[in-house]
Order: sequence, then C-alpha cells, then structure tokens
Amino acid sequence: MSPLQNCIKNKDTTKKPIWIMRQAGRYLPEFREIRKKNPDFIKLCLNSNLSSEITLQPLKRFDFDAAIIFSDILMIPLGLGQSVNFKKNFGPELGEMDFEKLKNITTNEFVEKLSPVYETIKKTASSNLLKQKDLFGFVGAPWTLLVYIINRKSPKNKLVDHFFSDKELLIYILKELVKFTKIHIKKQIDSGATIIQIFDSWAGLLNKNDYEEYIYRPTQELVKFVKSQNVPVVCFPRGIKNYSEFCKAVNPNVISIDYNVKPQDILDSVDIPIQGGLDPKILLTNPETIKKESKKYLDVFKDHPYIFNLGHGILPETKPENVDYLVKFVKNYY
Ligand code: CP3
Repeated sequence: MSPLQNCIKNKDTTKKPIWIMRQAGRYLPEFREIRKKNPDFIKLCLNSNLSSEITLQPLKRFDFDAAIIFSDILMIPLGLGQSVNFKKNFGPELGEMDFEKLKNITTNEFVEKLSPVYETIKKTASSNLLKQKDLFGFVGAPWTLLVYIINRKSPKNKLVDHFFSDKELLIYILKELVKFTKIHIKKQIDSGATIIQIFDSWAGLLNKNDYEEYIYRPTQELVKFVKSQNVPVVCFPRGIKNYSEFCKAVNPNVISIDYNVKPQDILDSVDIPIQGGLDPKILLTNPETIKKESKKYLDVFKDHPYIFNLGHGILPETKPENVDYLVKFVKNYY
C-alpha cells in the first residue's frame, strides 16, 4: 500500500507522506519553459501530453508521495460553457455565464469538453514515477466555483456587491455544480486518480450562518460520493472559522489546514488524519528556518496520521533547493 493510503486507511503514524499544493507550477524552471511556449493556460490544461509531463515534473526532482494532476478548478465553469481566461498579473477572468444554456448542457457535452483532462490522468497514472505513490484528482468545492462564476475574477478579500442579490439563482447553480462536479470526480477516478482533494479556497469569505447552505451541504454530498467510489477524499476549506465543526458536518477522510491554524488546536479538536499547514512563505527563507518551522508540525503530529503539505499553494518565487531540503528533512525526521 502507498504511504498516503497507509496513513489514511491504517492511520499509520510512523511515516509522514509529503506532497505540496501547486507542486507542478511556476517555481520550477522546467514548468516556466513549457509555459513560455504555451501562453494560453486553458489550452495548456487541455493538452494532455504536456499536462501529463508537467504533472510528473516535480516527481523527477523530489521524492514526493503523490502527484496532483495539472489542471484547474475552473475547468468546470469552462465545461459548463463559461469562458475562462488567465491574464498575466491579474489571474482568472471569466465571461458571463449563460444560465439558459446551463439548463440544457448534457453530461455528454460536459465530458466531451473536459475529455483531455481524463486523458492526462490516464497517461500519467501508468508512469513508473508513480510506483507506490498516489495520483490526486481534484475539484473546486461548489461554493468556491460559485464565487468564480458570479464574481468572474478572484475576489481577493471581498465579493462583488450584488453577489447575493438573486439567491434562488445561486441555489440553482450550486445544485448544478454538485451534479457536474460528481461527474468530473467519477471520470477522474475511472481514469486513474487514487485520491480526491476538494479545494474550497474561498470558504473564509462566508459568514458562519451561511456555512450550512453554501459549504456544508454541497461539500458533504461530494464527500459521500467520493467515498462511495472507494477512494479517500481530502477537504481544504481554506480560512473557515471552525475546522472541527466543518469535519463534523462534512466528514472527509482527511482535513487539510491553512497556515493560520495552530497545529495543537486542530490535533485537539479532530480525530481524522490531518494534512498541511506550513506557511508557504517559510519556503522563501533558508534551510535553518525551514527546519525549525516544519519541525513544529512534525512534533505536534508525531502520534497522529499526518500528511505533510503547505497551508496554501507554493509561491512562484520559491527556490527549488528549499523544496528539496524540506522533502529530505521530512522524510528523514523520525
Ligand atoms: O500543482 C498543482 O497543485 C496542480 C494543479 C492546480 C492548479 N490550480 C494549476 C495552476 C491546482 C490544484 C489548482 C487549483 C486552483 N485553481 C485553485 C484552488 C487552490 C488555490 O490556490 O486556492 C484555485 C483558486 C484556482 C484558480 C486559479 N488558477 C488561480 C487563482 C490561479 C492563479 C493565477 C495567477 O496569475 O497567479 C490559477 C492559475 C494556475 N493554476 C497556475 C497553475 C500552475 C499558474 C498558471 C501560470 O503559469 O500562470
């Protein structure tokens, strides 16, 4: 059994598997090289040969325990007919969603549009670099996708003013998102993903009294669905006020924490395997600081099933040498 599955299923605490969010990305010169020749990010995500190569790039350098498929959470709005562009120094920019068109989109049309993503997973899953390792498929949580669909760009700290003006429409979109996200998850698993992560990057933007309707209920539906496929599911509700309440309501196999969560607090409040936490900024420093800060997580989670990761995606300005140092340090710690 792979170290990750052993940690999750057998609650093994003797080894701490490690991978890093956004590990296939701009901090790697070999990624930037491909990216330079492929200025259209969405087209790159739909190029399964290159996407598979990018997915495996970090595993050629570092002894990570998992790869995560090179794709994006915004492939779902794209599959539902919304235009998605990535602009330099701005981030994602989405067109208006045509809600009439959304009503008529069939499963086949959706799957056809995203078929290169599944092709990427098939090509990647059989690689020798993944022997005894996992391949993460992923989706955005319905709430975070709703944020992008309505806000049409990254919200930074705040949603557009009219965000909640048509609640009935929001609830309708959430329902459609749950339906199509299940299809996307199923196709990823059938193509070779051995674990699924649900990214709720904008969970922190909601008021507590809206959690039930916009976060807990739709996410729980997805969690149940992944579990029904006999694949473990990791949830990352970034910035949520109360992680233990989230775990009780949603019941994932693993909870991934952001860098504002104190390791001891989460250890005291949940009993499922835990992932992540280290502030990505720590990787911009030096080996000594990296050692000191990552040790805090390794010590607190010594007797708890723990998957080493960051509290959000790795920053593009990170030196690959620092990642190398971190991976070796974590692997040799116990
Ligand atoms: O290595 C991996 O983690 C796998 C691939 C992955 C990407 N995006 C590739 C990517 C994953 C898991 C994502 C998830 C994703 N995408 C999230 C959830 C995680 C998070 O960061 O909160 C979100 C919110 C998105 C939407 C998105 N895509 C944003 C906000 C951006 C940044 C835009 C920018 O200009 O920095 C992206 C782009 C993106 N997705 C990149 C990568 C490697 C950078 C693209 C580039 O080269 O310019």
